[in-house]
Amino acid sequence: MNKISIIGTGSVGSTIAYSLAIMGMASEIVMIDINSEKALGEALDIRQGTPFCSPCSIYAGSYVDAEDSDIVILTSGIARKPGQSRLELAQTNVNITKSIIPEITRHAPNATYIIVSNPVDILTYTFHKFSDLPENRIIGSGTILDTARLRARLSEYYNISQSNVHAYVFGEHGDSSFIPWSVANISNVPILECDKLITTPGIEKPKLDFVDIEQYVRKSGGRVIARKGATFYAVSISVCHICKCLLGGVDTTMTVSSMMHGEYGIDDVCLSTLNLVGDDGIRGKVNVPLTDEEVAKLRLSADTLKDVIKNLEI
Ligand code: 2OP
Repeated sequence: MNKISIIGTGSVGSTIAYSLAIMGMASEIVMIDINSEKALGEALDIRQGTPFCSPCSIYAGSYVDAEDSDIVILTSGIARKPGQSRLELAQTNVNITKSIIPEITRHAPNATYIIVSNPVDILTYTFHKFSDLPENRIIGSGTILDTARLRARLSEYYNISQSNVHAYVFGEHGDSSFIPWSVANISNVPILECDKLITTPGIEKPKLDFVDIEQYVRKSGGRVIARKGATFYAVSISVCHICKCLLGGVDTTMTVSSMMHGEYGIDDVCLSTLNLVGDDGIRGKVNVPLTDEEVAKLRLSADTLKDVIKNLEI
């Protein structure tokens, strides 16, 4: 019996609700939006399909209905427009988040919170500064989506199952993110040797272009937004994966945004590195060994975020 509340019923919030329902991951889903008619419409549309899903009660409500939620997912805020960077959105969505925090945490003080709205690292940081929640119960979706894009791209390239691809995107969910290639591997074959060691008879492929792949991943969100005005499927599936791991009783590693406490020499900022996610939220960090050059990239990403935070009223 899991109860999940979703704040914001735009494309991302609604697709998360829809995915949770068809994946049978919650017995109760509450959809909350400042536009209550929109929330009601989305909830009804999904509810009318639930006879074909695992039993699930899905309804539109207000903050009070989030009481006893196991998980609260924050997707509210203004969405990124074509050509706009995530950081340009910052102050507007910080203000929206600050107005929501006291309301929702009063009603759902024991939930684990997943922050999805952008700029996600800044809003996760805002949650840390503005709520009394224990740190482990604040998770930013961070680069889980970028990591998914990377794994999908590498699995296409090597024509191999995505579950065999172990590679991550670290840092800001944004332009200063990077891929620590030194820890990327396919079934334990270091990525730097995969061109030589992973060959498919009859298939010729060009050498893996690391710069190109990194650009592809970094620009993926923008490319989708330029074509369809928004991204919501991949992020929603990623958020459902976080929910599954929170409810699944087994710790799972993933790149999500969390508060840094001196790891890699970085403090007082939220960004993505490898975290252990399980029952109580973030159960710990996996401090994977990085090269000096990769640590420098992570610090640069932290500095980029800190520069933004400095200019915001949080
Ligand atoms: C994405 O990367 C917009 O942050 C969102 O798809």
